[in-house]
Amino acid sequence: MKIAVVGTGYVGLVTGTCFAETGNEVTCVDIDVKKVEKLKNGIIPIYEPGLDILFERNIKAKRLRFTTDLAEGIKEAQIIFLALPTPPGEDGSADLKYILKVSDDLGPLLQDYTVIIDKSTVPVGTAEKVRDRIAKNAKVEFDVVSNPEFLREGVAVEDFMKPDRVVIGTESEKAQKVLTHLYNPLVRQGNPIIFMDERSAEMTKYAANAFLATKITFMNEIANLCEKVGANVDHVRMGIGSDSRIGKRFLFAGIGYGGSCFPKDVQALAKTSEEYNYDFKILQSVMEVNEIQKTKLIPKIKDYFDGALKGKTIAVWGLAFKPYTDDIREAPSLINIKELLEAGAKVKAYDPEAAENVKNIFGNKITLTDGPYSALENADALLIVTEWPLFRTPDFGVVSKLLKNKVIFDGRNLFDIAEMKELGYTYYSIGRETVNQESEVKA
Ligand code: UDX
Repeated sequence: MKIAVVGTGYVGLVTGTCFAETGNEVTCVDIDVKKVEKLKNGIIPIYEPGLDILFERNIKAKRLRFTTDLAEGIKEAQIIFLALPTPPGEDGSADLKYILKVSDDLGPLLQDYTVIIDKSTVPVGTAEKVRDRIAKNAKVEFDVVSNPEFLREGVAVEDFMKPDRVVIGTESEKAQKVLTHLYNPLVRQGNPIIFMDERSAEMTKYAANAFLATKITFMNEIANLCEKVGANVDHVRMGIGSDSRIGKRFLFAGIGYGGSCFPKDVQALAKTSEEYNYDFKILQSVMEVNEIQKTKLIPKIKDYFDGALKGKTIAVWGLAFKPYTDDIREAPSLINIKELLEAGAKVKAYDPEAAENVKNIFGNKITLTDGPYSALENADALLIVTEWPLFRTPDFGVVSKLLKNKVIFDGRNLFDIAEMKELGYTYYSIGRETVNQESEVKA
């Protein structure tokens, strides 16, 4: 099939590349001239494991093209994906200006029956708005479908190629047929394509992300309580996760969720509730708790140094909002670094992928190192923010040699409590006992 993807951000690029991989002819359209130039030259502007192989293969096979010209890009396309940004406006609601502008432009360009798909996360009712805008100028038949994506950064290609489910919001049988054909190669293992009306599909995306954010936040609150009552959240997680009604995934307590989706989508759903005069209480708590959770370890760091962080150097392991991405949007690392700097501490940080992005924010206010151990040299303590596998089994001999104090503040519960006890570290984590708390701070 011939497909156009408008918007070559994260979602657009993965969608376009993966559908080229299943044999379609895909043209990606973007107004950003520099970005399109890069893409044409085979450069992917985002870091996403596995995407490069598919990208190169399909460019070579001439199944994947790029253009800045909308008319050229959608020529003969049977399906047009809209994968445009929906940034939060001042009031937290999703801003639809990009999607609606392209909808206006699309109308007069359509030549034959076309299925237009909202892939961006958009508030309930957007498909209707898009349809109205296109209909103003269209001379041919078309359908607008809501088909939300559930891609996780870092594993987006795998999530795309083997989705747990595909949600398609349209009551048009014609559009359903086109999309069943398109998604057929991805659901061969028996995972379902779930058809529903547009509004339910739009709601499904928000409900999924808000539910997962709530699940994590619930566990973070259980962790906070575990610390107070002397329980271990790791055990509690396993104890409840084995119940198939609860499930094992997304139960990891830590210093809060971040990223481009959860914070934005929870906020947007709260805004939608407000617009419909519904007081969605849980969402408010989720947002509040997550903000507090992100800096959960800061008071403990301050206490450890008797409130005197001035002149102390804190090593930070992990800057990306999660492993396998260079994305730092809403990353807990940012607020932690900001608070450490405000308290007068120096920060030496390492991340395998996200250092460059963090440098753009903090400039030379922090030191970025080229490895985890160099961040520890002359540091007074270690703070772990992101659970990159590289950090899970460090050489503790080297760590204790480099760190001035044997103290670790672990926001991702990477290490075993008993092992840390034995190794003589003062070890703070989330929802577990603090180990060797009485150790002396070296002068
Ligand atoms: C998420 C959704 O999973 C995906 O379906 C949607 O399309 C986009 O938003 P993503 O933001 O890439 O994907 O990351 P995800 O792996 O879901 O993690 C989100 C955040 O939750 C991260 O900050 C992560 O550290 C945190 N998290 C996740 C936890 O704190 N605990 C967990 O158990 C799982």
